[in-house]
Amino acid sequence: MQIWLDTAKIEEIKEIAAWGVLSGVTTNPTLMSRAGTADRKAITQQVADLVHGPVSAEVVSVDAPGMLAEARDIVTWSEHVLVKIPTIPEGLKAMREISRWEPARAGWPAPRVNATLIFSPNQAMLAALAGAAYVSPFLGRLDDAGHDGMQVVRDIVEIFSIYGFDCQVIAASIRTPLHVTQAALAGADIATMPYDVLKKMIQHPLTDKGLKGFLDDWAKVA
Ligand code: E4P
Repeated sequence: MQIWLDTAKIEEIKEIAAWGVLSGVTTNPTLMSRAGTADRKAITQQVADLVHGPVSAEVVSVDAPGMLAEARDIVTWSEHVLVKIPTIPEGLKAMREISRWEPARAGWPAPRVNATLIFSPNQAMLAALAGAAYVSPFLGRLDDAGHDGMQVVRDIVEIFSIYGFDCQVIAASIRTPLHVTQAALAGADIATMPYDVLKKMIQHPLTDKGLKGFLDDWAKVA
């Protein structure tokens, strides 16, 4: 399973990219706002240069013509960019269209859509049928609303496997390191998570205690 970061903050991406475990980055309008910028193009290109992997850039239009106009621009920003489209009826129309486009530049892959704001297996199926290359079920927000977000991820993974959909599942809206483990066990292709959750993944008090013990013992003889 790939690990992606949910952030538009370059310092966070630099720090985690240096660990050698980061395969992609997810942005959305809220994350751009938290990073204090509306310059999606500049951020997306900086992130793509750091990560050399998928970077999702989200449209802010809610009608298909507007989404398509934004997507026409977004797909020229980087060979790594994914066009993030909300999973609403107008979004499905845009996904279908974008998935038929030729690459924006010679040697680049064809434009790929990340279908976002998915809260049910049916929405995921519709997005995959509309040509999305990725679907993003928001499991943490489902949990917040009293549902079982991870079960939705499991169901999507199983349905895509039964029917051989060529669409990757991004476990999104992750809140805890346990969510990451559960997403991996559910068969999600990717887990996209906030910086603080990713940092917690490496932490264990027994690792710290064990390392201190080794260094203290070594100091006695070195
Ligand atoms: C991914 O596509 C989402 O933008 C992200 O995971 C949302 O997470 P949140 O529920 O913490 O905002």
